[in-house]
Amino acid sequence: MIIALCSIRQFCRSSVCFKKVPDRLKGRSRSSQNWLIRQMNDEYVLKAKMENYRARSAFKLIEIDNKYKFLKPGDVVVECGAAPGAWTQVCVKRINATGQMPSVLKGKHVAIDLQPMYPIEGALILAPLDFTKCSSQTKITEMLGGQLATVVVSDMAPAATGIRELDQDRILELAYSVLRYAQQISKDGAMLLLKLWASGRVKQLENDILSHYSQVKIVKPPSSRQDSAELFILASNFKKNT
Ligand SMILES: C[S@@+](CC[C@H](N)C(=O)[O-])C[C@H]1O[C@@H](n2cnc3c(N)ncnc32)[C@H](O)[C@@H]1O
Repeated sequence: MIIALCSIRQFCRSSVCFKKVPDRLKGRSRSSQNWLIRQMNDEYVLKAKMENYRARSAFKLIEIDNKYKFLKPGDVVVECGAAPGAWTQVCVKRINATGQMPSVLKGKHVAIDLQPMYPIEGALILAPLDFTKCSSQTKITEMLGGQLATVVVSDMAPAATGIRELDQDRILELAYSVLRYAQQISKDGAMLLLKLWASGRVKQLENDILSHYSQVKIVKPPSSRQDSAELFILASNFKKNT
């Protein structure tokens, strides 16, 4: 098969790449055409299709975890902002949430999103639900069934308004709500991964996280588009009684 013989990058740079507006996109708005052309030419979109991930975002978590190795069989993961489910697919495999690898511990994965989500084997899905509501967090805690989380991840992002400061403030509020909840349900030594958009207030969040975790790193995986303000904060070694 041609695709298997050449790398994804080579394949994407081959003649299938769309440089002009294909006929089937004519009639759409310019921004919609630009977005679709970028998707068609994106090597991670193609790779996600080939590897059966629901979105290219899978590779952000894969790249971060390949480098920092925080997802292990037996982990108890809480995932905020999970739809359509690409990170969930990555997590359930790596923590052995389906029990498919009988020789290692079986993990647990609880995922929540505002949008409805199709089921994923091994994941307990709460959707559509707003993570920031107390009642939703109570539901997650119930699903944990007395277990403490070893990893909390959030790829949550508000629908962008286009007003940069407002969008930055809204994603920070989501990040703080995850940080507060993570303190209640995390086990000593747990990890936290939060998506943010770069802003002057990220440093303050880093300092606030450092009151509860030993180490904080800012991470930008290769699959996160260079022209996007997206970044991730990875905090390790949660200190329960601080
Ligand atoms: C970038 S997408 C997540 C993609 C996901 N990580 C994946 O790989 O499939 C961000 C998600 O955050 C969700 N979200 C935003 N605000 C939320 C909230 N208050 N509660 C729950 N989910 C929220 C959105 O509905 C959206 O699905």
